[in-house]
Amino acid sequence: MNPVSFTFRESAGTAKSKRTVVRNATFISSHHLTCATFNTVFGLRMMNELYRVQGVESLYSPSLLLFKDLIRQNIASAVKMTGGPAKLRPHVKTHKTREITQLEREAGITKQKCATIAEAEMLAQCGVPDVLLAYPLVGPNIGRFLSLMRTFPATKFSTLIDHPRTASAMSEAATKAGQTVEVLLDVNVGQNRTGIAAGPEAIELYAMMAKLPGLRAIGLHVYDGHNHQEGIVDRESAVLALVKPVFDMRAELEKRGFVIEKMVCGGTPTFPVWAKMDFPGLECSPGTFVLHDTGYGHKFTDMSGFTPAAVLLTRVVSKPLPNRLTLDLGNKAVAADPPLAKRAFILGISEFQIVVHNEEHLVIETPDASKYEPGDHLFALPGHVCPTCALHREVYVVEGGRVVGTWTVASRDRVLSV
Ligand SMILES: Cc1ncc(COP(=O)(O)O)c(C=O)c1O
Repeated sequence: MNPVSFTFRESAGTAKSKRTVVRNATFISSHHLTCATFNTVFGLRMMNELYRVQGVESLYSPSLLLFKDLIRQNIASAVKMTGGPAKLRPHVKTHKTREITQLEREAGITKQKCATIAEAEMLAQCGVPDVLLAYPLVGPNIGRFLSLMRTFPATKFSTLIDHPRTASAMSEAATKAGQTVEVLLDVNVGQNRTGIAAGPEAIELYAMMAKLPGLRAIGLHVYDGHNHQEGIVDRESAVLALVKPVFDMRAELEKRGFVIEKMVCGGTPTFPVWAKMDFPGLECSPGTFVLHDTGYGHKFTDMSGFTPAAVLLTRVVSKPLPNRLTLDLGNKAVAADPPLAKRAFILGISEFQIVVHNEEHLVIETPDASKYEPGDHLFALPGHVCPTCALHREVYVVEGGRVVGTWTVASRDRVLSV
């Protein structure tokens, strides 16, 4: 092993239980089966009870309901998986709300990750002590980030670098403003979206970041958003394979005298793997877990510690054919980035197929169509909750089976004040 090594904490399931999960996962092949599996995992009756809301008749549709008790549970599960809040740096992009940020603070979480300057500002407004803006800053967003740092001096901000040009531009602007920006090297571990592959070029870039005035190099960013293997054993193997060259690079950097204070790793699918690891500076950065969705819930059967906490309220608005129901759940209410079949999972209808999804209409075909009339309400789980949240300015908040208020999805806006 390299000078940098890790240990696994043996808390998140035994090898035997992992093998069982993989065997089950191999049977999940069609959408129909995943729905059935999802219902089996959560239990259809249990789901109906989980999402019971008094006075639903008077709530507007389409709308998004966030279940506060379930959000608290999801946060508690994540904290338990990492053995405490210190190793957690949740990504705020999933919910974009002040209130969930506050629930995470109440659970002892002091570090957050985000993707936009508006999200970073919202986190700072909430008093979050440590905010990583995990997005390449270019053009006027560099000056804007420096201005954000000046506006919220109580928050420690950091950001990513993956190119010498960005490093130089950030250094120049920071020096001119008399500021120092903490930066992490964004390592491309296979997603090929941003980052620089571990190796000599990345080491040179890190050395440049460490040397340039106005910058302080503090570590590595290791996001593996491409690791969507269904079985936990396969996901674990993938993480172990990708981390080896990163550890080699870290060892070389440390040999040259650079201090790697932190390594910010992973999203929700590989969270169970990273959470079990233990090495200096490890921080886990899942985002989706806090609200969870059927995109992950159907696919990763090992994610039973997380429960979908964001539910869409929709109503039948038309019945154009005997086997069709048209719902007010268009792609301006539920995100359209998953494949058509997986955009929304309608609760309580055991067999259905999405056939049309327009801006304000979702059309399903179901043998149960005759049971519903225009005006009947239904609940649906989003396939992808993060962009779904961003479609709603206000969300209903449910606690103890009752709507207790509304929250604003504050950082869905591109600009707050900075
Ligand atoms: C850089 C980065 N980190 C963390 C996350 C969180 O991942 P997930 O949504 O799987 O929890 C994302 C998600 O897009 C991301 O882009």
